[in-house]
Amino acid sequence: MIAIDGPTASGKGTVASRVAGQLGWHLLDSGALYRLTALACLEQGIAADDVGRAAAAAQALDVRFGDGTVAMSGRDVSADIRREDVGSLASQVATLAPVRAALLERQRAFRAAPGLVADGRDMGTVVFPDADLKIFLVASAEARAQRRYKQLIEKGFSANLLTLLRDLEARDARDTQRALAPLAAAHDALVLDSSHLTIDETVAQVMAWWHE
Ligand code: CDP
Repeated sequence: MIAIDGPTASGKGTVASRVAGQLGWHLLDSGALYRLTALACLEQGIAADDVGRAAAAAQALDVRFGDGTVAMSGRDVSADIRREDVGSLASQVATLAPVRAALLERQRAFRAAPGLVADGRDMGTVVFPDADLKIFLVASAEARAQRRYKQLIEKGFSANLLTLLRDLEARDARDTQRALAPLAAAHDALVLDSSHLTIDETVAQVMAWWHE
């Protein structure tokens, strides 16, 4: 079991998916579960502070993960869950204890032979505290904003580097300052700073630690 946690746009999703691919293991993108909960709330008109209904929506999620795709109630929502409004609501519903509790067992159920690579904010601290290897993947806010900028421009969107940087810092503040499962490295996590590393170099370092 490998847990990879870190702030927004640190590259943990890409790294987790490559590591899982190299090992032939299962992959859990836990952020997708929070995004799916947010999407369900938006579609059912559930407000971000309606704790009871948001938790019920998390509990009732009918999700199927495919090869890089996600289906909710039989509908492909892979693109929808990546929307900015969905990400923003995801970080709000993620502050609700009953929502986190509703998603806990669902996340643990992903653990299966031959192994699982899970990425998120609290994989090493809360969901899989007994993981064999815990990585806390960080990168400077500037490096993360640059990467997101490049991604958006490549997809043909317009983007403003300074706005992206401010959004990242606001998301960091929300994720680290929340009372519940705040973003923090587990005491036994290895910190990996990818500010000056390529994805390949980052993946290679994780694989080297795994084989140590
Ligand atoms: O793309 P980004 O890294 O910003 O987000 P994500 O990993 O898809 O997660 C979306 C939101 O869900 C984050 O802003 C977190 O607040 C929340 N989340 C969480 O609280 N715990 C997790 N294990 C994963 C995500």
